[in-house]
Amino acid sequence: MKTEHVYPVPADIAASTRITEEVYREMYDRSVKDPEGFWAELAQEFVSWNAPWQRVGRWNFDTPAIEWFSGARLNVSYNCLDRHLADRGAQTAILWEGDQPGDQRRLTYGELHDRVCRFANVLKSHGVGKGDRVCIYLPMIPEAAVAMLACARIGAIHSIVFGGFSSEALKDRILDADCRLVVCADEGRRGGKFVPLKHNVDAALSQCPLVETVLVVRHTARPVDWTEGRDRWFHEAVESASPDCPPEDMEAEDPLFILYTSGSTGKPKGVVHTTGGYLLFAAVTHKYVFDYRDGEVYWCTADIGWITGHSYVVYGPLCNGATTLMFEGVPTYPTPARLWQIIDKYQVSIFYTAPTVIRALMGLGTDWVKQADRHSLRILGSVGEPINPEAWEWYYQEVGEKRCPVLDTWWQTETGGIMITPLPGATPLKPGSATRPFFGVVPVILDAQGNELTGPAEGVLAIAASWPGQARTVFRNHDRFRETYFALYPGKYFTGDGARRDADGYYWITGRVDDVINVSGHRLGTAEIESALTLHDSVAEAAVVGYPHNIKGQGIYAFVTLVADATPSEDLKRELIERVREEIGAIATPDIIQWTPALPKTRSGKIMRRILRKIAANDLDQLGDTSTLADPAVVEDIIRGKPA
Ligand code: PRX
Repeated sequence: MKTEHVYPVPADIAASTRITEEVYREMYDRSVKDPEGFWAELAQEFVSWNAPWQRVGRWNFDTPAIEWFSGARLNVSYNCLDRHLADRGAQTAILWEGDQPGDQRRLTYGELHDRVCRFANVLKSHGVGKGDRVCIYLPMIPEAAVAMLACARIGAIHSIVFGGFSSEALKDRILDADCRLVVCADEGRRGGKFVPLKHNVDAALSQCPLVETVLVVRHTARPVDWTEGRDRWFHEAVESASPDCPPEDMEAEDPLFILYTSGSTGKPKGVVHTTGGYLLFAAVTHKYVFDYRDGEVYWCTADIGWITGHSYVVYGPLCNGATTLMFEGVPTYPTPARLWQIIDKYQVSIFYTAPTVIRALMGLGTDWVKQADRHSLRILGSVGEPINPEAWEWYYQEVGEKRCPVLDTWWQTETGGIMITPLPGATPLKPGSATRPFFGVVPVILDAQGNELTGPAEGVLAIAASWPGQARTVFRNHDRFRETYFALYPGKYFTGDGARRDADGYYWITGRVDDVINVSGHRLGTAEIESALTLHDSVAEAAVVGYPHNIKGQGIYAFVTLVADATPSEDLKRELIERVREEIGAIATPDIIQWTPALPKTRSGKIMRRILRKIAANDLDQLGDTSTLADPAVVEDIIRGKPA
């Protein structure tokens, strides 16, 4: 094994933080020995409650039934806004940088509170109330945060759909959550291009008869189709609404939002997060992981369409009274210096992004980084996929100039917040390792039979005890929740990831062990892409696997068998790609399509994906046992047909 480089905690951070290595150990120890006492204290410190809880945490992973702070009452928008007004009414809550350099806005806590209250009244005037679902399909603009917090204010449940998803994907999500109202923009802007959000909504709604209202943010102000009686401009509605809207008193276990995420099988599932535990976990992790200090500008580049945008652009930072930066554009527009220039412009202290961004910018050369001085940076974070040591080192050496700890944070949509991560003042760093568990998190490594492995070990990563940010169910499908996460290894939460634990107790995430792939930090189910491909009349069968990709982390490799009378051609490939983009979105575009006369199957007809993964990765000498295949010659055919 390669020798690992260990970077000690920078002396100035150790000297100025409360959570040193010793304090981490003490707090971690307490958090797992006395989780109720531990979380109760933090709940008092981080969140304002209207009424106390009866029980801090109560859970079993069999049913499963998970509750935190049940009986307690609170409102998330009150916690993110109202309670800050006295001290921070004039402080910037949201800094917005548009796709076009020079496009910028700033909202103070006072202004954000005003918009949220007004928009909450707009929602109410359209009949939206507690427990109703609202679909949000917006670009990265402040109205996204306004819409989220307005839902939270009146107890409506938001379901945000990433603006990169197609109208088909949007339709599926609107129908599954039974949304009656959609918030969208005329268009989004990314890298100088326009994203036709309203157009996609119109297309989706032709199949969603229950949606009565569409509130449209005028963002690019270019013409859009309009359905009278259904569509209404966001700004007109907000201006005419009252700024007075008392927050709804919510129970800690009332749902806060639904967020769809991909799994091994079937359509994406609506993961449900609830009010009290989620907010607490987002706030505590935001504070401790990033060592957030009052007055600092904090920037997470994630889109609000993903969990990272929920927890670390909006809920965690605003609950902590932070200044959070929202960026609409892409890292390479107009030049690959954009991110670093934004850091200088707003004097960003904490910067949190994805490995795919780091790898892409690394590939374009360090000169772009040097165009900005980046002196304000103190902390760097990474999330969404494994960060390879080479990218880690570049981030650390070149972007942070060896001054800023790089925090590789492992977590998932289902975990609500960061689970395995270094803490800046407490954790010596090893490039490529997410290091140690956050407070209250009990990771375990299991072998294939579900036995818990001790000491240094490699296997499947599971979590042995509940934490406040844990998802509670899959929307209207609790069985699926149980089957996906709790059935395979009874009594534990199954993450779907593999991991190795080293002799220092550090965790190294090795990637998904199921049929989920991670493309540029976007989580996709191979089954979804396969069903999009097989919708085409010419396709008899398709198998999709991930393969190592220099920039995206994983690329999408599709093995496709055509029906007897279809002829393979480049045009047909283009049609298939178009079909996937229509069904899911551009993020699911296959990088490679290989025609194959047949797929390798077992005698019982199961596709041997293990073999396809090896072929896609060019691990041809490691195909393993092919003797159980119905027709081993198929493998030879596929290897011969592999595109150069
Ligand atoms: O495979 C892991 C990978 O992303 C998956 C979760 O994806 P999603 O629910 O979309 O949430 C992404 C943002 C939290 C995980 O199962 N993943 C996430 N962070 C890391 C990671 N893999 C390795 N290292 C990470 N730091």
